[in-house]
Amino acid sequence: MSERWTPDSWRAKPVQQMPDYPDQAALKAVEQQLAGFPPLVFAGEARKLKRALGKVAAGEAFLLQGGDCAESFAEHSADNIRDFFRLFLQMAVVLTFAGGSPVVKVGRIAGQFAKPRSAPNETIGEVELPSYKGDIINDIAFTGEARIPDPRRQLEAYRQSAATLNLLRAFATGGYANLDNAHRWMLGFVKDSPQSHRYQELGDRITESLDFMRAIGIDPEAHPETRTTEFYTSHEALLLGYEQALTRVDSTTGDWYATSGHMVWIGDRTRQLDHAHVEYFRGIRNPIGLKCGPSLKPDELLKLIEVLDPQNQPGRLTLIGRFGADKVFDHLPALVRATKREGRNVVWSCDPMHGNTVKAASGYKTRPFDLILSEVKNFFAVHQAEGTHAGGLHLEMTGKNVTECTGGARGMTDADLNDRYHTVCDPRLNAEQALELAFLVADLLKRERAGRTRPEVEAAE
Ligand code: PEP
Ligand code: CO
Repeated sequence: MSERWTPDSWRAKPVQQMPDYPDQAALKAVEQQLAGFPPLVFAGEARKLKRALGKVAAGEAFLLQGGDCAESFAEHSADNIRDFFRLFLQMAVVLTFAGGSPVVKVGRIAGQFAKPRSAPNETIGEVELPSYKGDIINDIAFTGEARIPDPRRQLEAYRQSAATLNLLRAFATGGYANLDNAHRWMLGFVKDSPQSHRYQELGDRITESLDFMRAIGIDPEAHPETRTTEFYTSHEALLLGYEQALTRVDSTTGDWYATSGHMVWIGDRTRQLDHAHVEYFRGIRNPIGLKCGPSLKPDELLKLIEVLDPQNQPGRLTLIGRFGADKVFDHLPALVRATKREGRNVVWSCDPMHGNTVKAASGYKTRPFDLILSEVKNFFAVHQAEGTHAGGLHLEMTGKNVTECTGGARGMTDADLNDRYHTVCDPRLNAEQALELAFLVADLLKRERAGRTRPEVEAAE
């Protein structure tokens, strides 16, 4: 691993989950074209996010990361982006105001297109075809033609990422995120939901606080913190040819950065120490994530950390646990103890989605809200017991009123899944469920910060 790193040194390593492109000449042409395109984000922004995550590592802030499992070309619209952003702001306000913690906001958006799959093929009836790998690689339609990896899709993914990022930047700094608007972020269908009262009350308290500031002569408008927000993008950097084409030298530091998003992460299926993904990630200077599933052993984690964060930089590495509600206590304590013992400045975040996927009787892939909540509670309990900071939450969610995860305050059942099951990959929390979870996590955060009581420990059945 001490060999020289270049943006293409991953090509000499074994690699998992990458597509086989039948048309290599077309692939090469696309990668060359992408290499000439402007970066989507700047190194300075990635460094700013790293500093913010450094605060999370130090226990002074909380990371909220979330968005689609996979973005799709068909669902690219201003409405979808606005609804997602609005939900994200609501959740962040809940965590900041009710949870009493600064929140670092990172979307799974503007680049979250490539998917690792547990099976290379999908069978329906008698027909077996290559699995769908995300819109940047192939098409979800179940035909032989649609499932052939097409490199030109990378150009469309770049275009969509640029357009999405442009709108997000406008929302974040152009007035929409002004705290005075907190009431207006209430989504139409959430208005009469069980969460709406709690949120309206919170909105009233924010308005009162801002009015109080004005009354004593502090102009909230003069503070960018109340007028604008910092919002960052992230995705799983699975498709390394695309990532390489967008890997650029930062002219101020001479360091290499992935410019496809502010933060990128390594998936649970591609974190082999001597393989291509770890090789690529070790050379870029962005803040990065590493998914940690039940098969990861403490010594293996420490070796990965040594390669990915040799300088032990706060904010560089976010470890995203995704064990399954009933497995958190079997795996997380030993991993947390190992990083604590070695003095590693990592962020510990909880992905309560990927270890809690079940197949409903109706055949749909779903996730019960109770299991998701259980995994989060167990995550907080482990950190409480180990004396470490429960640093963040990593969610698959949408601002739309979909029916993909069961449970929540409205008691969604298996029978409801068929109504609006729109995801192209994993089931997402809808806006109501995500907001409900944010309130529950705010309570856990408040308790952690108060350091008084032990979060309730709840093993999943
Ligand atoms: C994902 O985040 O969508 C994903 C595939 O996660 P994991 O790598 O943890 O399975
Ligand atoms: Co997913």
